[in-house]
Amino acid sequence: SHTLTFLGLESSCDDTAAAVVRVEGDRAEILSSVVAGQTELHAAFGGVVPEIAARAHAEKLDLCVEEALAASGMTLTQLDGVAVTAGPGLIGGVISGVMCAKGIAAGAGLPLIGVNHLAGHALTPRLTDGLAFPYLMLLVSGGHCQFLLVRGPEDFSRLGGTIDDAPGEAFDKTAKLLGLPQPGGPAVEAEAKKGDPKAFRFPRPLLDRPGCDFSFSGLKTAILRARDEVVAEHGGLPRQIRSDLCAGFQAAVSDVLAEKSRRALAIYLAEEPATPAFAVAGGVAANSAIRAALETVSAEVGARFLAPPLRLCTDNAAMIAFAGIERYRLGARDDLALSARPRWPL
Ligand code: KG4
Ligand code: ZN
Repeated sequence: SHTLTFLGLESSCDDTAAAVVRVEGDRAEILSSVVAGQTELHAAFGGVVPEIAARAHAEKLDLCVEEALAASGMTLTQLDGVAVTAGPGLIGGVISGVMCAKGIAAGAGLPLIGVNHLAGHALTPRLTDGLAFPYLMLLVSGGHCQFLLVRGPEDFSRLGGTIDDAPGEAFDKTAKLLGLPQPGGPAVEAEAKKGDPKAFRFPRPLLDRPGCDFSFSGLKTAILRARDEVVAEHGGLPRQIRSDLCAGFQAAVSDVLAEKSRRALAIYLAEEPATPAFAVAGGVAANSAIRAALETVSAEVGARFLAPPLRLCTDNAAMIAFAGIERYRLGARDDLALSARPRWPL
C-alpha cells in the first residue's frame, strides 16, 4: 500500500521539536525525532515564560528541522507533507511553528496539515503499537488531564478531565513547596521512593462525586498546610518527613487517577469494543507508581494496557508528523490560511 513520509513540527510549550515519520499501511516508522528542551532558560523563573519560549522556538526551529531531515536521510523533495502543531498552547510558540511549517510547505510545494497537540498525544499508541480504534486514553501531563475515547484520527469524546490543575502541575508545585528541583515530577517520585505513603493522609478530591472529573488544586493546598505544620514543629523540614510528604502526595494522585480510570473504563467497555485497550500519554505517565496503578486497573477489567516509551509520552514532533499523516489519509488539507489557536478543545 501507499507510503507517506511527513515532517512534523512541535513548539506549543517549552520543547522545540522536529521529526520525520513514515507510514506504510499499518506500519509506522520514526525516521528521526529531534527535541530541544528549554528547561535551563526557564529554570530561574519557576515556570515557563511565554515570551522566552517563543523567542527560543523561533531561534531553534530551523536547526531542529535541519537536524531531523539529516538524521532521517530524507530531503524535502522526498517528503509527502508537513504537519505542525496549530494549538492548543502558548500562542507565541505555536505561531513560530506554524510560520515555519508554512514556509517549508510553500517553498517545497508540499501539503500542509495543522495538528491538534492533544490529538498528537492521543494517537501516539497507534504510532508505537499500531493500536486499533476505539481505545480509551488518559492524557496526563503538566498542562493536561483528560480521558478521551478515541474512535478515529479526528473522532474523540472527552469523558472527563480536570476542573483546575493538571497532575504534572501539582507535582511541580509540590516540588517547589518542598524545596525540590524542577521539573517536579521526577524529583517527587525519587523522594517518594524513600518515604512512607501512609505517614500523611492527603485528600482524594472528587472521589465522593460521580463522573470522571478531577481536581488537584486542593491537594496542593493540603501539602502547603502539612509542610507549614512540620516546619513549625521541627524548625525546618527533616529529610525523612519530606520523603513521607512526597510519598503521601503521590499515593493520593495515584489513587484518584486509578479510581477515575475505573469509571472511564466502565463507560468505554459499555460500548463493547472487540479488543479493549487503555493507553496513557503525557509526562506524568512516566511515573512508575502511577503506571503500576493504572496497569492494575486495566488488568481488573481485562483491558490491554499501553504506555508509550517515555520520549514519546512527553512532547515530541514524531507524534505530530504521525497525527498529520492520519489526518491526511482522511483527506484533510490545510493551506497558508492555517491559523495558530491558543485554545482548541478536541
Ligand atoms: O507531557 P509533558 O512533557 O509536557 C506537558 O505538560 O505537555 O509533561 C511534563 C509534566 C511535568 O509537570 C512533570 O513534572 C511531569 O510531567 N512529570 C512527572 C514525571 N516525569 C515528568 N510527573 C510525575 N512523575 C514523573 N516521573
Ligand atoms: Zn504535550
